Amino acid sequence: MELLIDDKTKQILKKAKSIVFFTGAGISAESGIPTFRGKDGIWNKLKPEELANFNAFLKNPKLVWEWYQHRKEIIHKCQPNPAHKIIAELQNKYEKVSVVTQNIDNLHRRAGSKSVYELHGNIERNYCIDCKKEYGNNVPLIDGLPKCDCGGLVRPDVVWFGEYLPQNVFTSAEEIAKKSDVFFIVGTTGIVYPAASIIYLAKNKGSYLIEVNIDETDISISVDQSFFGKAGEVLPQIFSQI
Ligand code: OAD
Repeated sequence: MELLIDDKTKQILKKAKSIVFFTGAGISAESGIPTFRGKDGIWNKLKPEELANFNAFLKNPKLVWEWYQHRKEIIHKCQPNPAHKIIAELQNKYEKVSVVTQNIDNLHRRAGSKSVYELHGNIERNYCIDCKKEYGNNVPLIDGLPKCDCGGLVRPDVVWFGEYLPQNVFTSAEEIAKKSDVFFIVGTTGIVYPAASIIYLAKNKGSYLIEVNIDETDISISVDQSFFGKAGEVLPQIFSQI
C-alpha cells in the first residue's frame, strides 16, 4: 500500500534546500543491529553502568574492551539498509543533506553520507586516555589490554554515561539543525539528552519536523508529521513521491 503524504508535506519537501536527518538505533535495526530499549534492547540484557561507563572501563578494561570488540564484529557483518542508502542518495537531489546521528555504527558513512555529525562517537575510532593519541582499528594489545605507545589505556571513541558529548560536533549539529528547512527524526525514542535537545532547537527555529518510527514516541506530539513504519520502507516511499 502506498504511503499517503499530504500536499503540504510534499510541497515543503519539494522546496527544501537543507534537510537534516536526526537518527537513532531504529534506523539500523533493519541492518541487524539491536536497539537499546524495547523488548530485545541491549539495555534490557546488560547493565549500562557496568559497560558503558568510564569507571567500569578503569575497573575492568578487558571486559569493556572485549564487549566493544564484540559489538564491532556484529556491526562489521551488517550492511547499510535502504534507509541509510536513500539518505545518502538524497545528496544528489538537495543542496544540503546532513546526518546528525546518535549511532556509533558508522553505517551512514558506509552508505555514502558525507556530512555526518556523530553525537555519541564512532566505534571504528579509539584514543588513549592519557596522551589522547587517536587510533583506528589497529590498537596494540598487551596481555589482552589495549595499550598506547605511551603506556596509557586505549578506549573506544564513544560517549559513555556521565560523559560530555564532543563539543565541536554538538555545536556544529546545532547550527545545521537551526538552518534546516526540514528535520527528520528517524528511529529514535528522543529521550536521551543532550542529543534530543537538537530536535526542539530545530522546531523553535521553524524547521518542519517529520518523524519516522515503528511506534509513537514522546516526540510524536511535537512534530508536524509522523510516519509509522520501518525506516527502510518508509523513507524510500516518501522520496519516491517527491
Ligand atoms: P532506542 O533503542 O532507545 O530506540 C530505538 C527507536 O527506534 C524506538 O523508538 C523504536 O520504536 C524505533 N525503531 C525500531 N526499529 C525501527 C525501524 N525499523 N524503523 C524505524 N524505527 C524503529 O535508541 P535511541 O533512541 O537511538 O546512547 O537511543 C538513544 C541513545 O540511548 C543511544 O545513542 C545510546 C543509548 O543509551 C549512548 O550510548 C550514549
